[in-house]
Amino acid sequence: MVIQEQRSLQYDHTFGIHVNTNYFVELAHEEDAVPLLASLTKDHRPLMIMGDGSNILFTGNFPGTVIRVNTKGIIIKEDDADSITIRVSAGEVWDDVVAYCVGKGWGGIENLSLIPGRTGAGPIQNIGAYGVELKEVFGELEAVHIETGEKKVFSREECWFGYRNSVFQTTLRGQYLILNVTLRLSRNPVPNIEYGSIRKELERSGITSPTIKDVREVVCRIRRNKLPDPGVIGNAGSFFKNPVIRSDQFEGLKIQYPEIVSYPDSNGVKLAAAWLIQQCDWKGKRIGDAGVHQEQPLVLVNYGNATGQEIQNLAMMIRQSVVSRFGILLEPEVNIL
Ligand code: EPU
Repeated sequence: MVIQEQRSLQYDHTFGIHVNTNYFVELAHEEDAVPLLASLTKDHRPLMIMGDGSNILFTGNFPGTVIRVNTKGIIIKEDDADSITIRVSAGEVWDDVVAYCVGKGWGGIENLSLIPGRTGAGPIQNIGAYGVELKEVFGELEAVHIETGEKKVFSREECWFGYRNSVFQTTLRGQYLILNVTLRLSRNPVPNIEYGSIRKELERSGITSPTIKDVREVVCRIRRNKLPDPGVIGNAGSFFKNPVIRSDQFEGLKIQYPEIVSYPDSNGVKLAAAWLIQQCDWKGKRIGDAGVHQEQPLVLVNYGNATGQEIQNLAMMIRQSVVSRFGILLEPEVNIL
């Protein structure tokens, strides 16, 4: 394994910020993970495990080692009449896995089509879209402890999945390198078309009994129309989480703003952050090369040469507007480093 020094990260993360890392190394084989971690000295630290860097905002150079996980492989672990269980290497591009499974007729992740990033990053934030979260098909994952090199299998319960959240974002943050993820998919899938925009798009296309292939196509179309392609314009998807507030606080807001967009949530009421940001007139705004996307204001973009600091400043201004107007503090969904 070659450890590169003073390497640019501009093309290794989707925001496309011009920053460097002191060291960079690519992990191509699972069995190399433990020896690699053991070989890194104090000088190489801190370590950062990265897939496609699709959920990161760098506000400066990284002072340690970036390990890019590029391991490949999908193997079938169990297969019966109803379900199929597959183990996917962490470095597999997530959307390639979705495309592969949909192509085979294995259902459960079609709503998660076109989410940027690698498979290993999926459980960390419990990726979700269009009414489905990864936790619904998650079996287990295998990870290696970065300091001790010990391998551990995490069950679904041990991952403590929540909305864009897991144990790997909270108590075990930065402690594990995920090696592979096991998914349990359906051989007789019933498409989930509850999400409003999916239903509308299917209707528009005249599809009354959608297959998982139809759902994948519709999700890809909606995402391509609404979300900027990171290959063309730097971004990391939703910059903020949709805030969950108490029901009594919501009732007060609803009186003042009857058109407020909300969804029921087990912990209260979830609000559409995109709506809150749009109400504060941020949609499509641009300050230098840092901007708020025209179609989806929850997404901040780098028009070319924005620094991470400039994107962060824009995010702070948006937060400030939303808190002044609605009394709600937006939490970043992106990891800010
Ligand atoms: N809305 C506006 N103005 C807009 C866009 C949206 O007011 O310009 C309101 C609309 O009422 C709309 C609602 O916001 O119905 C929700 O919008 P959307 O369906 O685009 O979903 P979202 O809640 O803004 C979440 C995820 C996305 C995911 C979509 C679809 C989070 C933080 N974001 O966005 O995930 O693709 O749902 O399921 O939960 C990501 O995590 O990076 C991401 C893109």
